[in-house]
Amino acid sequence: MTVRVAINGYGTIGKRVADAVSLQDDMRVAGIVKTSPSFELDLAQQRKFPIYANTKENMALLQQKGISVQGTTEDLLDQADIVIDGTPSKIGKENKEKLYIPRKIKAILQGGEKAPTVECSFNASNNYQQSYGKNYVRVVSCNTTGLSRSLGAIKKALGITSARVTLIRRAADPFDDETGPINAIAPDPITIPSHHGPDVKTIIPDLDIVTMAVIVPTTLMHLHTLNIQLPKTTTAQEIQDLFAKTPRILVVESDKRISSTASIMEMARDLCRPRGDLQELAVWDKSISVVNGNELFFTQAVHQESIVVPDNIDCIRAMMQLTDDPLTSMKKTDQSLGLKKWW
Ligand SMILES: NC(=O)c1ccc[n+]([C@@H]2O[C@H](COP(=O)([O-])OP(=O)(O)OC[C@H]3O[C@@H](n4cnc5c(N)ncnc54)[C@H](OP(=O)(O)O)[C@@H]3O)[C@@H](O)[C@H]2O)c1
Repeated sequence: MTVRVAINGYGTIGKRVADAVSLQDDMRVAGIVKTSPSFELDLAQQRKFPIYANTKENMALLQQKGISVQGTTEDLLDQADIVIDGTPSKIGKENKEKLYIPRKIKAILQGGEKAPTVECSFNASNNYQQSYGKNYVRVVSCNTTGLSRSLGAIKKALGITSARVTLIRRAADPFDDETGPINAIAPDPITIPSHHGPDVKTIIPDLDIVTMAVIVPTTLMHLHTLNIQLPKTTTAQEIQDLFAKTPRILVVESDKRISSTASIMEMARDLCRPRGDLQELAVWDKSISVVNGNELFFTQAVHQESIVVPDNIDCIRAMMQLTDDPLTSMKKTDQSLGLKKWW
């Protein structure tokens, strides 16, 4: 079976998921939805993705510009088995109610939507099977995906008594020339705890986690500092070995001049991944420290534009019941994207 995937919202996440879908042998891009002309639309045409418009008016607008448009979002949904909704926050919820439920089409929403909007939240490393055969699922945000990968691995191996995390968030994505701050560090939210902890609990429900967050003027990555109480003693080397064998976590070597988010992204560009993306969570080896035998610290970085891409592919496999084994799907995805070898 080749699953036909509609991409509604061809922006930062949507265009990356479309490219990832086109690398799989069990799914294909049925079409993408655009609202207006852009260089991204020109490139989507070059990639031979069928183009649809979100409204009849925008369809006419695109056609006036000489773009070959196959129809509206509704027409695309009639030709697809599942839709990836990559529209901005809150539009996904509206789309679910107005477009997806009436057409009985399965939909994957993104982390900008609230958890109660869907049947369950998804992170391939932790709860793949919960989404098996489901109709409406949310792939959690970039920050929640990163935290779920590392905390999930530690919890499975050792248990976690409590996790306290500070998120140092990028202000905007690199393309964004409107969002700030450009000369300030802003607690966001000012109130503590932040919403990130409860969001991680949609993936790992029985985790004692408290988070706080600030926004800093950078576009490259988010950075998290973690302080974890463990129920048993461990060593920094044991944690490093655990991360090294965990899918989608890359232990980066501080001694090889990987000293910041800038050098991590330079490494990602040199790996020649498309767009210079890094879909793995990066953990600095030398940041991993154990104090008093059971208090663990480390620092991790999240490439916000791409970390959720492999999870979207696995989520399609779970919801379409292509395999009920998370590792089978994750291996297939990671091989196709050229990610860290863990299998
Ligand atoms: N960027 C991140 O760091 C990140 C990370 C993880 C998760 N997420 C989540 O992923 C979702 C998408 O975020 P994003 O960063 O990809 O947003 P984005 O870069 O702004 O892309 C969203 C795209 O949706 C299109 N769009 C707007 N309204 C639409 C409509 N009514 N119908 C169809 N398309 C429409 C726009 O494309 P055109 O107007 O050009 O057609 C826009 O490029 C959000 O829930 C966000 O929270 C984002």
